[in-house]
Amino acid sequence: MGFNGVIVVGLHLLFLISMVLANTSKIPTTLEGPFKPVTVPLDNSFRGHAIDLLDTDPRVQRTVTGFEPEQISVSLSSTHDSVWISWITGEFQIGNNIKPFNPEAVASVVHYGRLKSGLTHQATGHSLIYSQLYPFEGLQNYTSGIIHHVRLTGLQPNKVYYYQCGDPSIPAMSDVFYFKTMPVSGPMNYPKRIAIVGDLGLTYNTTSTVSHLTSNQPDLVLLVGDVTYANLYLTNGTGSDCYSCSFSQTPIHETYQPRWDYWGRFMQPLLSKVPIMVVEGNHEIEEQTGNLTFAAYSSRFAFPSEESQSSSTFYYSFNVGGIHFIMLGGYIAYNKSADQYKWLERDLANVDRKVTPWLVATWHPPWYSSYKAHYREAECMKVAMEELLYKYGVDLVFNGHVHAYERSNRVYNYTLDPCGPVYITVGDGGNREKMAIPHADEPGNCPDPSTTPDSYMGGFCAYNFTSGPAAGKFCWDRQPDFSAYRETSFGHGILEVKNETHALWTWHRNQDMYNIAGDQIYIVRQPDRCPVERKQMEEFQ
Ligand SMILES: *[C@@H]1O[C@H](CO)[C@@H](O)[C@H](O)[C@H]1NC(C)=O
Ligand SMILES: *[C@@H]1O[C@H](CO)[C@@H](O)[C@H](O)[C@H]1NC(C)=O
Ligand SMILES: *[C@@H]1O[C@H](CO)[C@@H](O)[C@H](O)[C@H]1NC(C)=O
Ligand SMILES: *[C@@H]1O[C@H](CO)[C@@H](O)[C@H](O)[C@H]1NC(C)=O
Ligand SMILES: *[C@@H]1O[C@H](CO)[C@@H](O)[C@H](O)[C@H]1NC(C)=O
Ligand SMILES: *[C@@H]1O[C@H](CO)[C@@H](O)[C@H](O)[C@H]1NC(C)=O
Ligand SMILES: *[C@@H]1O[C@H](CO)[C@@H](O)[C@H](O)[C@H]1NC(C)=O
Ligand SMILES: *[C@@H]1O[C@H](CO)[C@@H](O)[C@H](O)[C@H]1NC(C)=O
Ligand SMILES: *[C@@H]1O[C@H](CO)[C@@H](O)[C@H](O)[C@H]1NC(C)=O
Ligand SMILES: [Fe+2]
Repeated sequence: MGFNGVIVVGLHLLFLISMVLANTSKIPTTLEGPFKPVTVPLDNSFRGHAIDLLDTDPRVQRTVTGFEPEQISVSLSSTHDSVWISWITGEFQIGNNIKPFNPEAVASVVHYGRLKSGLTHQATGHSLIYSQLYPFEGLQNYTSGIIHHVRLTGLQPNKVYYYQCGDPSIPAMSDVFYFKTMPVSGPMNYPKRIAIVGDLGLTYNTTSTVSHLTSNQPDLVLLVGDVTYANLYLTNGTGSDCYSCSFSQTPIHETYQPRWDYWGRFMQPLLSKVPIMVVEGNHEIEEQTGNLTFAAYSSRFAFPSEESQSSSTFYYSFNVGGIHFIMLGGYIAYNKSADQYKWLERDLANVDRKVTPWLVATWHPPWYSSYKAHYREAECMKVAMEELLYKYGVDLVFNGHVHAYERSNRVYNYTLDPCGPVYITVGDGGNREKMAIPHADEPGNCPDPSTTPDSYMGGFCAYNFTSGPAAGKFCWDRQPDFSAYRETSFGHGILEVKNETHALWTWHRNQDMYNIAGDQIYIVRQPDRCPVERKQMEEFQ
C-alpha cells in the first residue's frame, strides 16, 4: 500500500472513530424527555408478507428417535440459584383414535455439573402430556409427546453449567448442553444483555429475528406473548393468514398443534443455552373441548409460579440480578377482586428496591399504543392495574400484540409524568399476520370506541380523553404526546442494565445488521425524585 493509501485508510479510520464517538456521546436519556413524537416512515425495502416455515423445512423436523429428548429449553426460577430444564420425548399423535402416552413411562432426569466431563449432580422432575381435542366430525385430535420439567437447585451465580437430560434407564439421554446462571440479586449486579421480543411466530422473517437476536448474545430472552401462531391452521394442517376470517365454519377455533413442536425444534439451538421466560398472548388461548384453554402454553413451558407464590402459569415473578420482573396475564381476571391482582399486590409489597432497584413488568396487550390495530383494546386492564404499578414505581413495561415497534415517553393515566413507566411495544417478532402500519391518529383511522374491547377479555372501559389536546375525543389528531418513537418493522430489543439508575435500551430492525441500533435510549431511574412504596429493610432499622 502506498503512502496515499495509508493516509486514505487513516482518514477513514479517523472518520469512523469520530462517528462512533459522536454517536455514543449523543445517546439520549429519558432525563431529556419528554421527547417530541417521532414517526419513522415505512421502509420501502419490505417485500411481500411473512411466510411460515413449511413442515418440510429441516429446522422443524424431528431428528431424534425413540424416547430421546428434543425441544430442549432452559427457563429461570425466581432466583439465581435455580433453573428449569424442559424437553419432550416421544412423538406427538394427530388424527383419529389417538392414544395419549403415559407420562410416567419416561423418567425426567438431568445430570449436570460445572465441568463438561463431570456431570456429577442429578436432579429429577415431573412429566405430563396434554391433548387438544375437538368433538366435531372431520376435525383431528392431537396428543403431545411426554413433556418433562426438572428444576435444578443450589446453583452458583454467574457460572456455566453443563447438562444432559433424559431417561438414563432406557437409556435415552441428550447431548451435553450448557447454560449460564444469572448474577446474585443486588444493586450492582446485572446480566449484560436481555433480549425482548413478542409475536414471534415461525416465519422466514422470524428466522431473521431469531438469528439477529442470537448474534447479539443475550443472557436471557423474554417473549412477551404470541408464540407459534398454531391457531392460524386447521387441524388438517392447512394454514391461513387471517385469525378471524377463515374459521367461520367450526364452532371452536381450530389449531394445528404440531406447529408447537416445530417451534420447539427450531428454537432449541438458542433455548438449550439461553434461558427463556414467556408470558401468554391471545394466540395461546387455543380453546378446545370442555372450555379448556392455554393447554399448550401451560404445559410446554416451565414457570417459576410456585417459587413466586403464584398458583398460576399466567402471572409470576422472578429476579435477574438487580431487576425484579413481573409477568402479568391480560387474558385472565385482573380486577381488584381477582387472584392475579391480590398476588400482584403481595408481590410488589415484597420487592426490596435496595436489592432489586429495577422493577420491570411485561404482559401481552399494550396500554399505550398509537397504532390502529388493537387501539385501546386492553383499557379495562389498564384501569384496573395502572395505579398499583405506578404506586410501586414500575420503571419499564414491555408489551407485544401490536406488530410494530413503539416507545413511549414516561406516562401515567395518559398524562406525561416524569415518574411514570416507559412503555415499549415489541410485537415485531415476524409472525405471519399483518404488520401494524396505520396509526389511530391518521384521518379516518380512529375506531368506534364500542368496537375496541378484545372480545375474549370483555368489558368496556375506554372513555374519551378528559384533558390535553385530545380532550373529548377517543383518538388524537396527531401522534400522541405519550408516543416518543414509532416505526413499523420487524426486529428485537436488547436491554442492558448498567447500574442502579441507567439501563440502555436498543431496538434492532431486521433489515439492518444485527448490531445496528434503530432506536436507542438510556432509561434513567430517579429514585430521589420518584420515591416509591418499598419494603422496609428490618435488619437496618
Ligand atoms: C451514527 O448515527 C447515525 C444516525 O443516527 C447513523 O446513520 C450512523 O450509521 C451511525 N454511525 C455509526 C458508526 O454507528
Ligand atoms: C420478510 O422476509 C423477506 C425475505 O425472506 C423480505 O423480503 C421481507 O422484506 C421481510 N419483511 C420484513 C417486514 O422485514
Ligand atoms: C376427538 O376427541 C373428542 C373428545 O374426546 C371426541 O368427541 C372426538 O370424537 C375425537 N375425534 C376424533 C377424530 O377422534
Ligand atoms: C383441510 O380442510 C380444508 C377445509 O375443509 C380444506 O379446504 C383443505 O383442502 C384441507 N386440506 C388438506 C390438506 O386436507
Ligand atoms: C363452556 O362455556 C360456555 C360459554 O362460555 C358455557 O355455556 C358452557 O356451559 C361451557 N361448557 C362447559 C363444558 O363448561
Ligand atoms: C385517570 O384519569 C381519569 C380521567 O381523567 C380519572 O377519572 C381517573 O380517576 C384517573 N385515574 C387515576 C388512577 O388517577
Ligand atoms: C372486571 O373486569 C371486566 C373486564 O374483564 C369488567 O367488565 C368489569 O366491569 C370489571 N369488574 C369490576 C368490579 O371492576
Ligand atoms: C368520544 O369521542 C368520539 C370521537 O373521537 C366521539 O364520536 C364520541 O361521541 C365521544 N364520546 C363521548 C361520550 O363524548
Ligand atoms: C451508571 O451508568 C451510566 C451509564 O453507563 C453512567 O453514566 C453513570 O455514571 C453510572 N452511575 C453510577 C452511579 O455508577
Ligand atoms: Fe397478540
